[in-house]
Amino acid sequence: MAKKIASARITEESSKLLQELNNSLPFDNVLYKEDIEGSRAHAYMLKEQGIISEDDHAKIDAGLVEILGDIEAGILKLDGDDEDIHMAIEGELTRRIGDAGKRLHTARSRNDQVALDFRLYVQKNSRAIANLLLENIQTLVDVAQKHADTMLPGMTHLQHAQPINFGYHMMAYASMFKRDYERFMSSYERNNYSPIGCAALAGTPHPINRQTTSNKLGFNAPTLNCLDTVSDRDFALEILFNIATMMMHMSRLSEELILWSAAEFKWVTLSDRHATGSSIMPQKKNPDIPELLRGKTGRVNGNLVALLTVMKGLPLAYNKDMQEDKEGVFDSVKTALLSLQVLNEMIADMTVNKEAMEAACMVGHLTATDLADYLVKEAGIPFRDAYHITGNVVNLAEEKGKDISELTLEELQSIDARIGKDVVEMLDNRASMNARCSEGGTATERTLEQVAQMKAWISMQNNQK
Ligand code: ARG
Repeated sequence: MAKKIASARITEESSKLLQELNNSLPFDNVLYKEDIEGSRAHAYMLKEQGIISEDDHAKIDAGLVEILGDIEAGILKLDGDDEDIHMAIEGELTRRIGDAGKRLHTARSRNDQVALDFRLYVQKNSRAIANLLLENIQTLVDVAQKHADTMLPGMTHLQHAQPINFGYHMMAYASMFKRDYERFMSSYERNNYSPIGCAALAGTPHPINRQTTSNKLGFNAPTLNCLDTVSDRDFALEILFNIATMMMHMSRLSEELILWSAAEFKWVTLSDRHATGSSIMPQKKNPDIPELLRGKTGRVNGNLVALLTVMKGLPLAYNKDMQEDKEGVFDSVKTALLSLQVLNEMIADMTVNKEAMEAACMVGHLTATDLADYLVKEAGIPFRDAYHITGNVVNLAEEKGKDISELTLEELQSIDARIGKDVVEMLDNRASMNARCSEGGTATERTLEQVAQMKAWISMQNNQK
C-alpha cells in the first residue's frame, strides 16, 4: 500500500466512505492560488533563516510556480483523491522535484496552512466585494442626483406618509451600502495578521521568522498567539456577517423594486435585460432578478448561522469540524460578487416613472403634518389640538373626494378660522418636501448636499486604493 504523505501511523487503506466524508479537495481546490502563495513565502523564509538550503528553495519555488501555471492552464487537474488542497500541492511538488519537496512542510502544519490560505481568500474577497459596493454606491448617487426633485410618497407601515424625493430614497440605500463597505474594510484591517508559522498549535522549535512571511504576504504583522490563531475563524464569520447584512440591504431594495414594478405602482420599469417572461402568460414581464436577489439572502443567512453553530463549543485548538468552514464562505462570496454586479446593472438601466410617482403623492393627504405644524407655529395651538383640527380637515377632504392639498381656503377655514391663506401654498407637496430642509432631510437642496458628500467620500475611497 502506498503510504499517504500525511498518515505516518495509519497502516490500512482508508475506507472509500471515510474519503468521501473526510476529503476537502473537491471544494478547497479553489484555494490553490493562496496555498501556493503561502508556500512560496514559507519556503523563502525557511531559506532566509538557513533552515533549508538555497538550492532546495530554488527547486521548491520553481516547482510551485510551475504547478500554478499548469493549474491555470488546465494541464493539472485538482480532482485526485488527495485529502485536501495542501496535500495535493505538496504531493505534486514532490513528484516533480523529488526530495526538496519534502522539506517544504518544515516548521509548518496544515493547521496554520489552512488558516493562512483561508484568510488570504477572505481578505482578497473582502476587498473585491468592497470595490463592487463602491460601484453600486456611485450608481445610486447618479440616480439620486438626477431625481432629487422627483417626488414620491414616503411611507411608514407601507402607507403614504410624507412627500419625499426619489433621490433621497436612493441615498438611503447608498448610506446602507456605505456602512457595508466600511464593515468589509474594517474587517479587512482587523484580520490582516499572518497565521503562518504557528504550526500545529504551540509554535515550533525551528528558528523561523514570522515577520518575514508576514511581510511577504502583505499582512500588517504576525498574529499574537499561536493557539488562538489555529483555532480562530472569526475572519470567516465576519465576512459571512458582512455579506448577510449587505444582502439584507439589497433584499430590501429588491423588495421595493418588485413593488414599484407592479401595476398598482408603476413607479419604475426594469429594463427588458433584467426582466423575464412567463411560459404560459404571454403578456407578463416578471421581476425575477430582484426576486432572486431577495431570495439569495436566505442562503447567506444560513451560511452565517451554520458556521456560528460549527464553532460554538469547539475546544482549542484545531478540530476537523472546522473543515466545515469553507463551503458556506465560498457560496456567500460567490453570491455577493454576482448579486452586486447584477444590482449595479439593474439600477443603472431602470426607468424612473416620474409622473406615476408624483401622481401617487396626491393620494393620502401627505401634507397633513404640515398643517398641524402650521397651527402650532403660527396660531399657537397646542400640538394635540392642532392634530385633531387637522384630522377634521382630512375628513372634509375625504368627503369632497379631494386631497388635502386641493382644498380651498374657504373649505379649510370652515374647519377652523385660524387657518390663514398662506396655508394653501404650504399644503402643496413640493413645498412640503422642500420645507423639510433640516440636516439630512428630504428637501431637494439637502438631498443634493448628501449626494455631494457621498461623492466626496467615494473619491476619497478610490484615492486610498
Ligand atoms: N482540510 C483541512 C481543513 O480544511 C485542513 C487542515 C487539516 N488539519 C488537520 N490537522 N487535519 O480544515
